[in-house]
This record gives sequence, C-alpha cells and structure tokens, in this order.
Amino acid sequence: QKNGFDTYMLKEINEQPHVIQETLRGRIFEHSIVLDELKDVDFNKFNKVYYVACGTAYHAGLCGASILERATRLPVLTQVASEFRYNDPIIDEKTLCIFVSQSGETADTLAALKLANEKGCTTIAVTNVLGSTISREAQHTLYTCAGPEIAVASTKAYTTQLVLLTLIALYIADKRGDTVDTDLMEQLNNLPEYVSKLIDDEAIFENYAKTLKDKHDCYFIGRSLDYASVLEGALKLKEVSYVHADAYIAGELKHGPIALIEPGTVVIAVATQPHVAAKTISNIQETIARGAEVILFTVEGQEVSGVENIYYLPNINPLLQSVLVAIPLQLIAYHTACIKGCDVDKPRNLAKSVTVE
Ligand code: F6R
Repeated sequence: QKNGFDTYMLKEINEQPHVIQETLRGRIFEHSIVLDELKDVDFNKFNKVYYVACGTAYHAGLCGASILERATRLPVLTQVASEFRYNDPIIDEKTLCIFVSQSGETADTLAALKLANEKGCTTIAVTNVLGSTISREAQHTLYTCAGPEIAVASTKAYTTQLVLLTLIALYIADKRGDTVDTDLMEQLNNLPEYVSKLIDDEAIFENYAKTLKDKHDCYFIGRSLDYASVLEGALKLKEVSYVHADAYIAGELKHGPIALIEPGTVVIAVATQPHVAAKTISNIQETIARGAEVILFTVEGQEVSGVENIYYLPNINPLLQSVLVAIPLQLIAYHTACIKGCDVDKPRNLAKSVTVE
C-alpha cells in the first residue's frame, strides 16, 4: 500500500500534486468558483468570521482567514478549538464559523462546532472524511479530496485544506461583491505542477536536514502568511524528528527570542510575502551576526545578501505561497526524522485522531 515508498509519510507527500488537482476538480469554471455546497448561504449577512481547528488544521485556518480578510475586509478571527469552546466567544447569527478537520472527529473541534450551532451561527465544515461526525453536524460541508491519510503527521490533508480554504475565501468575496483576482484562479490551477517541481528537489531538502540531525533546537521565523507556514514547519519537525522547534513572528525576535541565538543555532526563515520579505531578511541578518546557520525560503527575484542557504520558490501569487513552502518544510522534517532513525509514520505519544479532549 505504500506504492514503493518506504513510509506512508513520504508516499503522502508525493501524492500532493494529484490530491490538490482532485480538490480543485470541478471547482473553478471560466474564472469563477463553483461551490454548490454553499449556494444557499447569504454571505452578505455576516459581520464576523471565525476559523476554528486544532494543530495542523489550525495552521491551515490561519492562512484561510488571512486570505478571506484581505479579500473581503471583514473582521476574521482564528482560534484553536480547545480555546474557542471554553472562552465564551462573542458569536451570534451574524457570525460565520468555519471548522477545519482532516478526520472530522476531533473532540474539541466537534464541541466548538456544536457550540456555534447552538448560538445560531452559520457553520461550515472543511473535512477529509466522508460521513464523519463533523461533516454531519455542520450546516454545510466541503470535502478536501486528499484520500486516506495514514501517517500521523498531516501533509496532504494540510495542503488540500489550504487549497479548499483559498477557494472558499474567493467564493465568499465574489458573493459579497468584492473583486476577485482572476490571475489567482489561473495560478490555483497550476499549483499541482509547481508542487510537483518542488518534490523533484527533494535531495536539496534532504541536505538541509543534515544540518539539523545533531541539533537540539531549531527556530522558524516568518511574517504575515509566512508565520502560519512556519508554525506548521515547526510542528512537523518536532512531531516526527523530536527536534525542539519553535516558530516566531520575525518582528518579535528582538522582543525576546533572539536571546536564544548562539553560534550554530539553526534558523529556518520563510520570506515569500513581498510587503514584508525585506523586513524578515533583515531579521535573518541579525541572527547571522550572532552565529546562526540560516536556511531561507524566498521567491525568485527577491534581493538577498549575506545568506548562504537560499531556496528560491517560483514567484507566483503570494496568497498561494503557503502551499508551495509546505513541501520543503515537510521534506526537511521527514529527512531529519529518517536520519535520526525515528518512526516517522507513528511518532511517539501521538494519535491520528484525537477523539478525547
Ligand atoms: C499534525 C496533526 C495534528 C492534527 C490535529 C487535528 O501533523 O496531524 O496536529 O492536525 O490533531 O486533527 P484533525 O484535522 O483531524 O481535526
């Protein structure tokens, strides 16, 4: 069942071009987005949107929220389900709540969804499992088409969530009368090809993993949408390789975390968002001055000086960069774990579906 791959995680990483294609299939038609599952929703009645999820799905929610907020200028919040359910959120019939869950069975996400239904919100579920409890409880359900995800660490479910959440954000913007970038839709269609090319560069990312194999810590930095990407990169690294990893907003470095940087500390930086990329790069230089070994992911054409390990991502629409940079970050985590001899498909202490809180 591993299709010739050593592990499910590697198989699932390699399936991403195909499952992204499946998730897009039939949902973009002549420069407009078709989501029949949402055709009965009046998107003009909302004054606030919440994205609620746990773990990796929460990171996908952060990206979806940022895209929706930029496109609609509606206030959009993202919250971890275990906080949302106990924090007496200010929600009512004018609130749209979007729940993201690969398994559709996560206890906290389900409880948060039930709360939103009780409070009269409109609820939408984004899940990967047909007929799952969350898919049945939500008023509207959309499926990622990732196929069964066996490895405990989520990879293809995450990138298909990013794609579907982007489609939903653009759909909502269109229904509310906001202008939607048609160029972005075209590039969505090209994502499978870009992702495939990144997977072809696996040997480069395996090489980066060698820098990490003897390290106890690794810091990830990014700003704006890249912050969600580095949160996910750090989560992936810690869960499969047990290297302690933290993600910081690059602008926060000076407010404390930079105290942790010493000669040999590995810093993985993501700078794909044009409005803040130069700022992140200047933060990187501050870490290099203190002896950090930096790996930078940025886009072709971005000016960079003084950084040794740079990987240039294709310069596509910045809103889609989270999908691209997910691939190298997954492969770095994967290869670090393999080099260290960890059981990548079944990391210690973790379960695929967290059905108790
Ligand atoms: C990390 C991972 C977890 C899940 C989280 C939510 O790789 O898989 O963080 O994302 O437990 O699970 P779902 O999406 O099934 O609700």
